[in-house]
Amino acid sequence: MKSTVSPGVLLFLLYLCCVNLPSVITNLDQFCGGHLANPKGVVHTPNFPGQFPVPIKCRWVIDVSDIPSTNSSIVVYLTQLYVYKGLRFTEYAYYESETMNFGAALIKEVTEGNVFEYRRFRTFRPFLVIDFELDRLEGNHVRVLNDLLDVYGFNVTYEMTEEHPNSESCTVRDCSFAGNCLVTADYT
Ligand SMILES: *[C@@H]1O[C@H](CO)[C@@H](O)[C@H](O)[C@H]1NC(C)=O
Ligand SMILES: *[C@@H]1O[C@H](CO)[C@@H](O)[C@H](O)[C@H]1NC(C)=O
Repeated sequence: MKSTVSPGVLLFLLYLCCVNLPSVITNLDQFCGGHLANPKGVVHTPNFPGQFPVPIKCRWVIDVSDIPSTNSSIVVYLTQLYVYKGLRFTEYAYYESETMNFGAALIKEVTEGNVFEYRRFRTFRPFLVIDFELDRLEGNHVRVLNDLLDVYGFNVTYEMTEEHPNSESCTVRDCSFAGNCLVTADYT
């Protein structure tokens, strides 16, 4: 006996096997940046201290507006900072999106001249936006006297605090550009 499969059944099988495949989710927005609502945390470039793909464009929004506090501030410790281009810190009175925000004030834009000038900075606004945009790695990362310092990007720490910022904080300069400056687990 000869069996035949009708074209309709074939089409149905084709639909089951191929059209209904789960779609591959590639969310490039999650590659870097994000919304940070914890009272403390770490912000770093992808793959730190290694290289990351360029061009890169990231935005982190530190949002402590939901954390009850009378006189709180956000302190950022620039412990590991190896770029002197493309990094900007802006405080906001309110920030929901690129188009829904107000009270923006630029706190710091990292340049070749100021990259080691500050160990930390502080804002009393509830939102701090960190923007990072770079089109190439070469010529934008810190090297000291031809020293092979193959470290790219940054790894900085923030905390929300009512206290004075930790005066013991350091930068890579305090480590003679050869060691690492890290925040301890309890931020002391
Ligand atoms: C909040 O803290 C800052 C820094 O410690 C201080 O200068 C300011 O006076 C404080 N404001 C209030 C309302 O306590
Ligand atoms: C990034 O910084 C945090 C806080 O200083 C530190 O604990 C962590 O080890 C650093 N990560 C790398 C890869 O250096």
